[in-house]
Amino acid sequence: MERNIQSSLNKVSFVSITIATLITVSLFLQIPKTGIPSTPSTTTQKPRLRFPNSTCDSTPRRYLPLSKKNARLWSSKSWMTQVSSFTQFFTQLHQMGLLNKHSKVLCVSAGAGHEVMALSKMGLEGAIGVEVIESLPLVSRANPHNLPFFDGAFDVAFSGHLMEALYPMRYAGEMERTVRKGGLCVVVVDECDEEEVKEIVKLFRQSRLISSSNVTLNARRVTRIIMRHKATD
Ligand SMILES: *[C@@H]1O[C@H](CO)[C@@H](O)[C@H](O)[C@H]1NC(C)=O
Ligand SMILES: *[C@@H]1O[C@H](CO)[C@@H](O)[C@H](O)[C@H]1NC(C)=O
Repeated sequence: MERNIQSSLNKVSFVSITIATLITVSLFLQIPKTGIPSTPSTTTQKPRLRFPNSTCDSTPRRYLPLSKKNARLWSSKSWMTQVSSFTQFFTQLHQMGLLNKHSKVLCVSAGAGHEVMALSKMGLEGAIGVEVIESLPLVSRANPHNLPFFDGAFDVAFSGHLMEALYPMRYAGEMERTVRKGGLCVVVVDECDEEEVKEIVKLFRQSRLISSSNVTLNARRVTRIIMRHKATD
């Protein structure tokens, strides 16, 4: 009796050990399938990255980090020429007593941000540019017809693109809204006569004309129109 029990126990443990060994061996054999082989298997060449060719991305594009892209743009001759032209333009406003280092200036439709850089270089820390397409860090994305700023947030709103606006009255209205009472709206337009200036000033319903003159900006003859937001409605 005892011998029978002993022998069946032996059988059971033998079977168990065999199964456990088989499982261990099979697990061990499976590892290389999912794991990373520690040595290169067939070739000594460096593996080359291959990206699928697709119809919408057939040419290889080099990714340029923003800082490098900006460094390249900002050192171009055309960029520097335009920035210095804007610097002259804003220096005139400064000399007229309309702009100082503490002025908060909003540049609407600022493009790549030439005017914002000009203002920053003049020491105005509160200069901001907005455009439909952003150009960081100088220009943020915003719709000029619906500016994401509080009423009266700025001392000066500047734009060189009022006349290209889809809705000039709405555009002008947004410039006025974001400028404080007594603040300025400054626009440059293609050189025009007095009558046309009057038409443009009419778009700014809360402001009155304080100066209009023909100046050169970026090698272009333009009319600079300066309006002051009425202190009372
Ligand atoms: C992608 O295109 C290049 C040349 O146009 C070709 O040499 C390469 O084999 C293509 N790769 C794939 C994955 O089709
Ligand atoms: C600006 O130039 C326009 C067109 O050349 C002219 O009609 C206008 O009188 C000039 N404005 C001023 C303020 O000189």
